[in-house]
Amino acid sequence: MTQPIDLAVIGGTGLYRIAELQDVESHLPVTRYGAPSGPVRIGRLGERRVAFLARHGEGHSLPPHQINYRANLAALQALGATRVLALNTVGGITERFGPRVLGCPDQLIDYTWGRISTICEVASEGSGGTEVLHVDFGEPYTRALRAAVLAAAQRAGVALVDGGCYGATQGPRLETRAEIARMRRDGCDLVGMTGMPEAGLARELGLDYACLAIVANWAAGAGPDPDEVITLQDVLDNVAAASSGLPALLQAL
Ligand code: HPA
Repeated sequence: MTQPIDLAVIGGTGLYRIAELQDVESHLPVTRYGAPSGPVRIGRLGERRVAFLARHGEGHSLPPHQINYRANLAALQALGATRVLALNTVGGITERFGPRVLGCPDQLIDYTWGRISTICEVASEGSGGTEVLHVDFGEPYTRALRAAVLAAAQRAGVALVDGGCYGATQGPRLETRAEIARMRRDGCDLVGMTGMPEAGLARELGLDYACLAIVANWAAGAGPDPDEVITLQDVLDNVAAASSGLPALLQAL
């Protein structure tokens, strides 16, 4: 029988493992949607069983539009996960979300295109298809899991901004200043490339799901220097610095 997993964590850019996991076993399940981005590492964090999966693969080989989001979530579910905390590296658009801030958004807007964004399928040869699903998605992140993440951050003394709207872009290129200006007008506070379809698929699969966004940079034109050029090194440095509180937050969660 599958042993339950207390929490599954999907790591984003710059976050390829949880060093504090003990007694780690690795699994590479193949799901009806294919293989996940890499092995699922399951171990103990204190008393809890925690699973970790690197969304882009452990060597960051998968770009955001080529990640098999369905296989990733289905693999975690098959291994016993019911609650998923998504770590997403993002750019900050509005004032509260400067580089190195951690945020727990409560809304999202999907600007991605051409990605497989549902588990809903018509029957075809060799496949039984699924029922037509129209899941409620008014509140895209699970309220109870968000509340638990916010409470854990408080217990761990880790600053975490409560709320905000995550705009999911197609990438892999970064955005133009005009695109970010439009996203600001739309009400986005954060911009990233991996928030969707992951959150929608989690809802379809019946998984609890929350996002912990790690702000790596000001989005194009959003910071004090409108001419700033965003470099991968800045992104990685800021993710590393902003992630220093994550082990304590995860332990508390
Ligand atoms: N835009 C989109 N995705 C990102 C960014 C950004 O500025 N920074 C990190 N991920």
